[in-house]
Amino acid sequence: MSPHILVTGGAGFIGSHTCVALAAAGYTPLIFDNFCNADPRVVERLETIIGNKPVAIQGDVRSRADLDRVFEQYRVQGVIHFAGLKAVGDSVADPLGYYDNNVAGSVVLAQAMLAAGVDTLVFSSSATVYGDPDQSPVPESAACRPANPYGRTKRMVEEILSDLHHANPSWRISVLRYFNPVGAHESGLIGEHPRGKPNNLMPFVSQVAVGLRDKLAVHGGDYPTPDGTGVRDYVHVMDLAEGHVAALRHSERQPGIVTLNLGTGQGASVLDVIKSFERASGKSIAHEIGPRRPGDVAANWADPTLATATLGWRATRTLDQMCADSWRWQQANPNGYEPSAAR
Ligand SMILES: NC(=O)c1ccc[n+]([C@@H]2O[C@H](COP(=O)([O-])OP(=O)(O)OC[C@H]3O[C@@H](n4cnc5c(N)ncnc54)[C@H](O)[C@@H]3O)[C@@H](O)[C@H]2O)c1
Repeated sequence: MSPHILVTGGAGFIGSHTCVALAAAGYTPLIFDNFCNADPRVVERLETIIGNKPVAIQGDVRSRADLDRVFEQYRVQGVIHFAGLKAVGDSVADPLGYYDNNVAGSVVLAQAMLAAGVDTLVFSSSATVYGDPDQSPVPESAACRPANPYGRTKRMVEEILSDLHHANPSWRISVLRYFNPVGAHESGLIGEHPRGKPNNLMPFVSQVAVGLRDKLAVHGGDYPTPDGTGVRDYVHVMDLAEGHVAALRHSERQPGIVTLNLGTGQGASVLDVIKSFERASGKSIAHEIGPRRPGDVAANWADPTLATATLGWRATRTLDQMCADSWRWQQANPNGYEPSAAR
């Protein structure tokens, strides 16, 4: 049996795609998820893509007993820790819920790993830790000034992991700061299905294209950007997934802690995304430019050179591919993993 990698939050958007990349790289993903923001039916879809059904364990990262059982039952070589809550607005309304899930959950996980003698960890951080950066592209050395509780949970866990490594230098930790993950697996079998109104641009655009929503409200058309709309670094979720595998491989080569941006290094505006999605789908995306949204920054994209130098990884998929893959998923699964929507 190939080495087991425990994937907390493995039934979620990025976690499920990472399971595909892990299997392709010869690892056995072990999904650990409480399904608070995931559909268990993703596991059957993964079986179709991977060729065998991944083990999926229902459990909570805040439960030491749940985690201890997994470490006792399986020979786990490393952990990729996606489990967490990610909605900025919810984190403002429920900071304690976010600190509990994201920070306390990560502490319990690290304690369980320490007890089990597992010292390889890849952690899902976020470009949100930078807040409103002084410059783009944003290098890892940029100041961290997270502007909301969600971003602070990520930054706190980064600092906890740095302290953990300081105390235990044999640990192998990769902190990955994602920019804007979008797209879906090219099969169209797995993808992102936000519950309720999407907070992010790409799922919103997809839902307009498929007729679930009337039009997209573009927040701000007067930013100091080439077309006036906000610019972000969209990165294909499969590129991101492969970045996690590259981080594991790096950890196998040497202990230490690395903090790396995962992005393309290129910015795309809201209007660029709309145009690309229109090309991919053949649909026109109704949109209306409105006022800026408080807290949004004009432009924000990654400097990914350290990730390339350290991991030998770079994002290769284009914005057109991101939109084409999002569209394939959305069109085939307008209601996510609901059976009525299955192909
Ligand atoms: N999607 C993004 O834009 C983005 C950007 C930067 C960082 N991240 C981080 O990447 C990670 C994965 O994000 P995603 O987009 O796949 O989100 P997601 O919500 O699809 O996946 C998170 C998964 O974690 C599970 N989960 C949540 N709390 C849990 C707990 N206490 N115990 C066990 N499982 C739990 C959920 O059920 C879900 O399956 C998150 O930590 C998120 O903060 C996401």
